Amino acid sequence: MYQPTSSGNGGASQSNGYHLQGEGHVTGRRGSRGRSRDSSSRVFQQQDKERPPAPCTDFDSAYFHSYAHLGIHEEMIKDRARTETYRNAIFQHQDRIAGKVVVDVGCGTGILSIFCAQAGAKRVYAVDASDIAIQANEVVKANNLSDTIIVLHGRVEDVDIDDKVDVIVSEWMGYMLLYESMLGSVITARDRWLKPGGLILPSYATLYMAPVSHPDRYSDSVDFWRNVYGIDMSAMMPLAKQCAFEEPSVETISGENVLTWPHVVKHVDCYSTTVHELESVSTKFKFKSMMRAPFNGFAFWFDVEFGGAPTYPSNNNAPPEFVETVDNHVTDTSQRKKRPNPSEALVLSTAPEDPATHWQQTLIYLYDPLEVEQDQLIEGSVKLSQSKENPRFMNIHLEYESGGRSFVKESVMR
Ligand SMILES: C[S@@+](CC[C@H](N)C(=O)[O-])C[C@H]1O[C@@H](n2cnc3c(N)ncnc32)[C@H](O)[C@@H]1O
Repeated sequence: MYQPTSSGNGGASQSNGYHLQGEGHVTGRRGSRGRSRDSSSRVFQQQDKERPPAPCTDFDSAYFHSYAHLGIHEEMIKDRARTETYRNAIFQHQDRIAGKVVVDVGCGTGILSIFCAQAGAKRVYAVDASDIAIQANEVVKANNLSDTIIVLHGRVEDVDIDDKVDVIVSEWMGYMLLYESMLGSVITARDRWLKPGGLILPSYATLYMAPVSHPDRYSDSVDFWRNVYGIDMSAMMPLAKQCAFEEPSVETISGENVLTWPHVVKHVDCYSTTVHELESVSTKFKFKSMMRAPFNGFAFWFDVEFGGAPTYPSNNNAPPEFVETVDNHVTDTSQRKKRPNPSEALVLSTAPEDPATHWQQTLIYLYDPLEVEQDQLIEGSVKLSQSKENPRFMNIHLEYESGGRSFVKESVMR
């Protein structure tokens, strides 16, 4: 979970990666199990000639620096829904991990690497470009796992690994799934190292959106200014709307705030998705409100699935068609509750009706609520694209219409 820092590149590694040894000091280019870029790895050299890794920018350095703080890892690890689902998924796939080679993309404190070692992995490459890798190495040593887990302090794009790997594990999901753009690094690892038929955990991810009613939030932020200790401060209201609702807001809502079934914005198959596919994601939506209520904005959330085999054909990543169900609600053929899950794969969900996670939900508020009737349509489109300024930021272009009025809202998640 990335919360960007305003500046500086701190202690982030911009090198080609270091294998951490001994007392956690950086010892230079990898030890016996790593290999430097100019080594004899024909496969990697060929790949590098064709597609050199993108340079580590100042934005990337600030991003890695933010992960050097322990608090961010503490929050993630204390998110039991997150951490226990990963642990359960690793043990559910123990038959694919025991005796095998794993790479942990963005190992942080090393917790997922250690779960994999506990599940019997022969070797785990734990890669992180943040200085948290130094602590991860200490944790590995303290747990007598240095023979199994090799901590590589560097970018996945830059470090080299001798082996091809059987399994990739990574916790890469940002707010609104795609904010922070870490999935590209998982794709890089997949294309560099994963054996054919290898396992990726998680395997699939789905981003959803739905219109929501949240009048209390509007009231707290905007109506508040009508009467402040008996003083009419309603002159503040335009500024209050701007301040409160200009940018996406990460907060927890409940299933009761949601006006109707969600729409699938994007389904990602981690086995086949490409970096290009994630640069810009667009979808059209059409909701039918299930109740009469103030419509305050749209909520976004995601789930990830820890499966072994594709649940969708790889050419079917586009959001599905709308269908009219028997109870006359416009709905979506792949909404989460009805999504086929024949393999009974474990799912980590950040939906409003599920236990809260540190991702919460991401809300894009309207500047002014619209009153919608039961069965009133809310239609439009949304485009999520990586910012040109900093690809880890996300531009959100939202067009929507309801009750004969149409609106456009631009926002940036930065
Ligand atoms: C969301 S944290 C997950 C940490 C840990 N795996 C866990 O589950 O607690 C993501 C980690 O990935 C690292 N990371 C992100 N992109 C990376 C890249 N391209 N190369 C190496 N590490 C990366 C970050 O520094 C951060 O520590």
